[in-house]
Amino acid sequence: NKNILTDNFGRKHTYLRISLTEKCNLRCTYCMPANGIPLTPKKHLMTSDEIYEIAKGFVDFGVTKIRLTGGEPMVRKDFSIILERLASLPVEIGITTNGVFADRFIPLLKKNNIKTITISIDSLQKNKFQKITRRNEFDKVWNTIQLFHNEGFAIKLNVVLIKNFNDDEIIDFINLTKDQNITVRFIEFMPFDGNQWNMEKLVSLQDILDKVHYAFPLQLSRLEDLPNDTSKNYKINNYQGQFAVISSVTNPFCDTCNRIRLTADGKLKNCLFSGNEFSLLQPLRDKKPLAPIIENALQHKFKSRGGMDTSEKLENPALHTQNRSMISIGG
Ligand code: GTP
Ligand code: 5AD
Ligand code: SF4
Repeated sequence: NKNILTDNFGRKHTYLRISLTEKCNLRCTYCMPANGIPLTPKKHLMTSDEIYEIAKGFVDFGVTKIRLTGGEPMVRKDFSIILERLASLPVEIGITTNGVFADRFIPLLKKNNIKTITISIDSLQKNKFQKITRRNEFDKVWNTIQLFHNEGFAIKLNVVLIKNFNDDEIIDFINLTKDQNITVRFIEFMPFDGNQWNMEKLVSLQDILDKVHYAFPLQLSRLEDLPNDTSKNYKINNYQGQFAVISSVTNPFCDTCNRIRLTADGKLKNCLFSGNEFSLLQPLRDKKPLAPIIENALQHKFKSRGGMDTSEKLENPALHTQNRSMISIGG
């Protein structure tokens, strides 16, 4: 039944994001609360077999793209096994990683025909990188980005911007695209449980464009949006690479959202912003059919921003605690 993944607003869900683990080898302040999060006991996390089983079900319902996230997906001991099995399905596979362990998987990625890698890096300055990630891994991540580039992977760099922290690096990041065909993606900081978000910390799409216009007068081109793209895409004329802005707060792409998420503990989330969750793992273990649960989850999907559709709601901290921390959703 290929219609099963359509919601009440006619949006077709063909993109599944699977969080493989709640653990991470970095501690980004905007993602993980200062004291960490209580980790789910292992017996309540999906095994590699269960991940494959559930993913296969989604592919039968028309999913054509699967992205692996975390936490950090590559800290999972059986990452290779999971990847190989999912790659045997007729889907495009994406991976979002912090890059710390990524170099060791290059042969695996090549073998499984993965040509693009998304790496998070929020500062090009070692001391600032350490401040935001609470770990000293800048050199490792930077060298890994260069390595992937030299190995011929298409590279997307994810940069979460925080006002008065790294917004002074916007032009430095764009300058990376001058001689390298990479895509730098600036991400608007989003509210989640425990991440101290407020509107003053937001660097908006408009703020970014203002800076770019000032630094590169008359040199900015807007590129076409791909269907269901998260980002607005740009390039500086004659630069090899591109940059983009993911404006989930000020200009969300909810109208064309095709995403659903599976958390490491086997819960379906119909929206990144919504606290509504629908367990698939326990029913799978109880040998119950998953299709009605998935269908029900989609019927409960909000039209926009998980129901936080006004700026009052967005700015109400009580509502942020109704969703998980980003570390356990996976972005
Ligand atoms: P592709 O479209 O597959 O290239 O990747 P992506 O941009 O979806 O994935 P990535 O994991 O790199 O996510 C980057 C950022 O996009 C995240 O930090 C979020 O800010 C944002 N994002 C991803 N999915 C959603 C979503 O469903 N809703 C909203 N509002 N933002 C999202
Ligand atoms: N707002 C926006 N993006 C975030 N990410 C993690 N936390 C947040 C947040 N609060 C990003 C990571 C990663 C992507 C999957 O999600 O930097 O690149
Ligand atoms: Fe880890 Fe990514 Fe969260 Fe940073 S953003 S703590 S790298 S999961």
